[in-house]
Amino acid sequence: MNALLQTAIDAAQKAGTVLKEGFGTDYTISSKSQIHDLVTEYDHKSEAIIIETIRSSFPNHQILTEESGHHASDGDITWIIDPLDGTVNFAHGIPIFCVSIAVKQGDAILYGVIYSPMTEEMFIAEKDQGATINGKPCKVTQQSSLPSAFLVTGFPYSVKENPGNCIEHFSHIVEMGIPIRRLGSAALDLAYVAAGRFDGFWEVALQPWDMAAGALLVKEAGGIIMDYSGNDIDFTKQSSIIAGNFEIVHTLKQEIDIVTSTLNERVRQ
Ligand code: IPD
Ligand code: CA
Ligand code: CA
Repeated sequence: MNALLQTAIDAAQKAGTVLKEGFGTDYTISSKSQIHDLVTEYDHKSEAIIIETIRSSFPNHQILTEESGHHASDGDITWIIDPLDGTVNFAHGIPIFCVSIAVKQGDAILYGVIYSPMTEEMFIAEKDQGATINGKPCKVTQQSSLPSAFLVTGFPYSVKENPGNCIEHFSHIVEMGIPIRRLGSAALDLAYVAAGRFDGFWEVALQPWDMAAGALLVKEAGGIIMDYSGNDIDFTKQSSIIAGNFEIVHTLKQEIDIVTSTLNERVRQ
């Protein structure tokens, strides 16, 4: 196996073991940007073991992590890491969280690894080589009708300010009678789309570490992923994204666009 991928898997496995051991124990929790944007000592422990694992094989690669930012170095490989995606779940004893690790070269994600320690599910995507869950191939669903779809979404910590009109988009899709889940881990949401558990996913203002590994999983499982303007995702910045199979992504985008233009029209009047 390629050394980059093997290192990503080893790091995710080790970090996942640390998270599983820490889950439900008496750890410290503090707030970041606002009261519900939490970080626990396990976010930091997981991040430290991932960085140590990468550094022992690739001392010169660039690393971008949620908790400690950019570890500048040379070369065109960047590791994009969310050491614990689903921190609010973890902090409240809900076993829905994961480790997300992507390896990027230039604009392309080469490898994406998402590990869910509580279910012991390892999702792996390799550019142009497909996606697997615990070694079995992953495939997005073939559901082509949005009203019949089963969707997942999330909200940023700034939801109170309604960034990108996310509240209106959500209520419009709920009003269509579509069943929607909010699991609390964008990386797992994307992995579950890749695994065919959900037909589609959308969310505003995700960070590179929330979506880089999951984006490759969705693509390699036969799906597509785009930002709200219909473009490829830029993994150097925050993006609002839609993922799923081709038909669901395009129809979901149409519904989001209808709401956005209605709101813009109201502002103009
Ligand atoms: C959050 C989760 C959540 C999503 C938020 C993210 P964190 O990441 O992925 O599902 O709705 O936008 O910030 O804070 O648990 O790493
Ligand atoms: Ca995250
Ligand atoms: Ca996180």
